[in-house]
Amino acid sequence: MKLTLEAGAAKSAVDVLVVGVFAPRAKVEKAKPKAKKTAAPKEPGAPWGNHPLLSSLDEELGGALSAQARRDEFTGKANSTLTLNTLGRTTRARTLVLVGLGDGRKVKAPALRSLAARGARVANAERAKSLAIVAPDNDALTIRSIAEGAVLGTYRFTKYLSGDRIPKAAVETIAIHIERLNAEAREALRVGEAIGRAVNLTRDLVTEPPNVLDAVELANRAVAVAKDGGLKIQVFDKAEIRKRKMTLLLAVNQGSTNEPRFVHMSYVPRGGASAKAGAKAGAKKGATKRIVFVGKGLTFDSGGLCIKPADGMLDMKIDMSGAANVVGLMAAVAALKPNIEIHGIFAATDNMPDGNAYRPGDVWPSMDGKSVEIINTDAEGRLVLADALTYARSLEPDLIVDNATLTGACMVALGNTCSGFYTNRDNLADDFAAACTEAGELMWRMPLLEDLRDQLKSEIADLKHMGSRYGGSITAALFLREFVGDVPWIHCDIAGPVVSDKPNGWYPKGATGHGVLSFLRLIERWASKR
Ligand code: BES
Ligand code: MN
Ligand code: ZN
Repeated sequence: MKLTLEAGAAKSAVDVLVVGVFAPRAKVEKAKPKAKKTAAPKEPGAPWGNHPLLSSLDEELGGALSAQARRDEFTGKANSTLTLNTLGRTTRARTLVLVGLGDGRKVKAPALRSLAARGARVANAERAKSLAIVAPDNDALTIRSIAEGAVLGTYRFTKYLSGDRIPKAAVETIAIHIERLNAEAREALRVGEAIGRAVNLTRDLVTEPPNVLDAVELANRAVAVAKDGGLKIQVFDKAEIRKRKMTLLLAVNQGSTNEPRFVHMSYVPRGGASAKAGAKAGAKKGATKRIVFVGKGLTFDSGGLCIKPADGMLDMKIDMSGAANVVGLMAAVAALKPNIEIHGIFAATDNMPDGNAYRPGDVWPSMDGKSVEIINTDAEGRLVLADALTYARSLEPDLIVDNATLTGACMVALGNTCSGFYTNRDNLADDFAAACTEAGELMWRMPLLEDLRDQLKSEIADLKHMGSRYGGSITAALFLREFVGDVPWIHCDIAGPVVSDKPNGWYPKGATGHGVLSFLRLIERWASKR
């Protein structure tokens, strides 16, 4: 698929043409309610008012476009769409897609990303080969957001389909129409496309079945990404994991016939003062800020000996979404090249029942030295994260951000479209919440309630790894906090939104890549602060 910029109005013929339409502002509507009430409603004009492109298309179509807009009451409301088959009455497009942008003249990045994605989904559904999207503005963020959305919207996972199930056509060209072509616009396109592809990469990893994508394969994919993006990467095999005393990761892996992997990817900006970072634990810190992202990489979570019921187990290939986010994020970072140091690490294994599996009642040391009493082998994510956080801390970061499909309790609290996040710094909460809003992803701050900390007390070990059912997402976060020391830290419980049961904005049905865009915004906020 090729993504291009074209200056000037959409003239060349395409299969699908996408145009954003603003709704009239509320004030304008208020001004003329009386006339409407009494007189028989005269044919009002098209909802888009003075829009040269849409007006000329409407004319070519003999008024069919404005007629359909009136019939469907399409007024440009946010999230509304109008799709029209032009039946050969214009050469410019086989199908027209109008997407409502709401009445705010200031279009935000998420709305534009959704617009492009919706258009791209129509293109997929209509077996289109060419897609054109008209950008409502010429600024870099607009172009980048549309490029992101176009790439995200065409996403589908077809590698295991055969025969009739193979899609008949794929979108080959996507043109974004802007007013003026310049270097800034081209750079925005490049970055937007790279970000879209990075999130799609995350989706691929999450969607891969667990018999294909085990810990070793996940690490291999990360190596390919690092190679592609010129990133540094270290992969620890089981022997190295043992040598580094990541004992909790080994405990979870014990019931598996697949080896675990621990992966550390790093990006150091050119001229970054701390070139040695990541080479070894405790590398000396330079002037550049350093953020470490950590992911839970459970390639399959059966629950272990505390085995899950069949229904709850079905989706558990997605339990490596945190790690997949880290890999996708690092791919995006490689393209974005921020001026701060970014590390991505994840611990990968599956959680299986077996004669050798770890048990409830076991006591295991952690990499950090604290001993942990195992209560339920299905609370495995926090165990592998504990060792990963200990490793992350050894990199002396300015910030650790972990993300994990950690608890069903978080979904009970916030539903399945919103993640919960926790932090040990209030100012970080505002910073991260703003990043999520700018990215257009739902993440809500949850409290680290000190009252619940008592539940982690054990009679025979330093810690239990879980508390009661109530507040289950909070006690999981409190357990993780034991391993970050005083380092500024954000923990994201992403169990719900990493998959979606229906297409929504730029999210497809299935794996969404939820998280990557928020983390990227956080990185950009930190990079611009310097
Ligand atoms: N991977 C699950 C959490 C999960 C559940 C993610 C549903 C996505 C959808 C995690 O390892 C788990 O099993 N958590 C348990 C913890 C409990 C045993 C304390 C849970 O949430 O039930
Ligand atoms: Mn589990
Ligand atoms: Zn799990």
